[in-house]
Amino acid sequence: MLVLGIETSCDETAAAVVRDGRIVLSNVVFSQDPVHREYGGIVPELASRAHLESIDFVVGKALSDGGCLIEDIDLLGVTYCPGLMGSLLVGVSYAKALAFATRTPLVKVNHIEAHLYAPLLGGNGIEFPAIGLVVSGGHSSLFYCGGAGEYEFLGGTRDDAPGEAFDKVAKILGLGYPGGPAVDAASGEGDPGRIPFPRPMMGGGDCNFSFSGLKTAVLYHVKGHNKPLLPGHVADICASFQEAVVDVLAAKTFSAASERGVSTVIIGGGVACNRRLRERMISEGRLRGVSVHLPGPELCMDNAAMVAGLACHVYNTEGPSGLDFDAVPTV
Ligand code: KG4
Ligand code: ZN
Repeated sequence: MLVLGIETSCDETAAAVVRDGRIVLSNVVFSQDPVHREYGGIVPELASRAHLESIDFVVGKALSDGGCLIEDIDLLGVTYCPGLMGSLLVGVSYAKALAFATRTPLVKVNHIEAHLYAPLLGGNGIEFPAIGLVVSGGHSSLFYCGGAGEYEFLGGTRDDAPGEAFDKVAKILGLGYPGGPAVDAASGEGDPGRIPFPRPMMGGGDCNFSFSGLKTAVLYHVKGHNKPLLPGHVADICASFQEAVVDVLAAKTFSAASERGVSTVIIGGGVACNRRLRERMISEGRLRGVSVHLPGPELCMDNAAMVAGLACHVYNTEGPSGLDFDAVPTV
């Protein structure tokens, strides 16, 4: 089954062709970073306009990169929630029109659940049940996954998501946008133990997260330092902040795994590109006898291959969604 996935929930216009829910034939992502960089964050109105301008080209490129024509596509999948309303509407309207014009079935896909499908792409054999962690610009969520595409929500972000905290810390330190990769890069030479930033909600015994206090602790640390920051100090702040985020994510994920008696962890979302997080989850998994699955960076960031993959699974288990569903901005 050839599936064309479409993703426009935030600031990436993406389309991909995936065979049988596993084999990625093409994965086109058109990033809007240059549009939003001068504002230091995403401007929703500019995002939806940019999606409108690029979606047709992006879908065409996904088809040609995948070596197929629209007539070859058996199923369409599109992200309908959560995200920015204007952005979601571009993808949803485009997908509905395409489905109607070509008489192809369409499946609506939840973006957060799609992030957890990314580790399954490429035909990786993953043993279920698993604990799923999604860490992105808008979410940090833990799920119990009984099987591929089966998600029971265990807990999530109370305020700032980890990616948002990375972006805000980068802004405080003047490292540019998007902040996650910049903090990751700057932390390279830093000492992760130099500044004892708080580990919010780490010992709470639940699956909820809060990163806003940690971001504020970084702000106070910087404000309390009256001289300009030297590069070595910036590196130490980045490394210490990152270590605090990673400590919380690792502690909550592995404690959920041990509570549920699960020996598989799957991770998705843009923050899963973070080098320290990847290193830590894999090494701690090894120590605990838990197998940890992280997709490559191109499948961690927003993309449409994960949407096509999950759409295939949903179609096979539940059938098509019809054309009368709405875009939904919140979960
Ligand atoms: O999943 P994603 O592409 O979009 C959302 O669904 O939000 O995640 C984007 C987020 C941004 O906040 C970005 O700063 C963060 O992922 N990110 C990173 C890294 N690369 C991207 N955060 C930490 N370290 C990275 N290397
Ligand atoms: Zn995302």
